[in-house]
Amino acid sequence: MENQVWDSLLLSRSILTMEAKHDYGEINNGAIGIKDGHIAWIGSQTELSQPYSQLANTIIDYGHHFLSPALIDCHTHLIYGGQRANEFALRLAGKTYAEIALAGGGINATVHATRTASDDDLFRIASQRLLNLQREGVGCVEIKSGYGLDTDTELRLLRIARSLQDHSQIKIITTYLGAHALPPEYPSADEYIDFICREILPKIATEHLADAVDVFCEHIGFTLMQTEQVFKTARRLGLAIKCHAEQLSDIGASQLAAKYQALSVDHLEFLSEAGVKAIAQSGTVAVLLPGAFYMLQETQKPPIALLRKHQVPMAIATDMNPGTSPVGSLLLMLNMACIFFGLTPYEALAGVTKHAAKALGLEKTHGTLQPGKVADIAVWDIKDPAELAYYIGFNPCIQLIKAGKKICN
Ligand code: NIG
Ligand code: FE
Repeated sequence: MENQVWDSLLLSRSILTMEAKHDYGEINNGAIGIKDGHIAWIGSQTELSQPYSQLANTIIDYGHHFLSPALIDCHTHLIYGGQRANEFALRLAGKTYAEIALAGGGINATVHATRTASDDDLFRIASQRLLNLQREGVGCVEIKSGYGLDTDTELRLLRIARSLQDHSQIKIITTYLGAHALPPEYPSADEYIDFICREILPKIATEHLADAVDVFCEHIGFTLMQTEQVFKTARRLGLAIKCHAEQLSDIGASQLAAKYQALSVDHLEFLSEAGVKAIAQSGTVAVLLPGAFYMLQETQKPPIALLRKHQVPMAIATDMNPGTSPVGSLLLMLNMACIFFGLTPYEALAGVTKHAAKALGLEKTHGTLQPGKVADIAVWDIKDPAELAYYIGFNPCIQLIKAGKKICN
């Protein structure tokens, strides 16, 4: 143990470090020493010398509450205008997501509502959505653009996402998803992709507006060739890659993303074993989005057994968006990942902590409780870690600690 006075010392009956390979890495009667927003020491209280007041300036005893890494929502589209409850009704009446999109609804309906919304409105609504997540112990959120499509609105969305980082307590990772849908003013997808690669991506890279680039690679989205053009440009500009892949059909998007060392491939209901092997080799995270699976009443499930067999890390996210996943709760996604996809409660928590961190390229600083990592910690009123996946509509989070500082819940 280093000979320094910590800013704070947290004590708790149970600390779920999430650093072990196959279990919670639980420390009973544990302690965490925090210095300068980072974890300086973590271990059992029996290893600490008494009195604690000599070890740290502030001592917080959480008693019987559990501590875990703060949760990470690694796939959201949470800045958008309007809503699409009308499409929900249409789907209930038998229309499919693809039919609605091809008839001019879907993503382009939200593009219209987003383009016409003011910055203030977009910021305010997005802040409320973030706050919902924060109350459940979420300390880091990825936000995609993709509901502007034109240069102005896409850059506006990414700037709003960056400013949310300054105004909220949550760490924000931004992803440019210009290749989400063909905007109505563009005659052909090839021309639109050329425009993205020539005009928008260089601007985004120069202004550091996005950390990653994503493409909706699908028969109602963009082809493999168009997707590859975006990936090539993104790599040349030093941007990380993510991909909406194999959501509605298997077109080999995951293999393509793996070829470009994507951080993650997301959705994956139609992922083949060849796709699983490819992402296993490239170290790409499989992001599961049970909210979209549920809302679209999908029956095809992601190939969980194959992902386990090939040891692909599985993350879980809300996919918060107005079309396929109007979901405001990450904890609910843990439950759905267990019920629909057969994940264990441990796999579900790993999916919103260490594997979600890896899906954002943050595995060195976030996602587990280990010395050197940022002290982002969630405090839970539970008696068994499985409770985090078990409840539906209850919120056992009593506090979020961000970089060592308490955030009121
Ligand atoms: O992740 N699949 C593409 N994009 C979103 C849905 C967007 C929308 O319908 O507005 C998704 O499911
Ligand atoms: Fe999505």
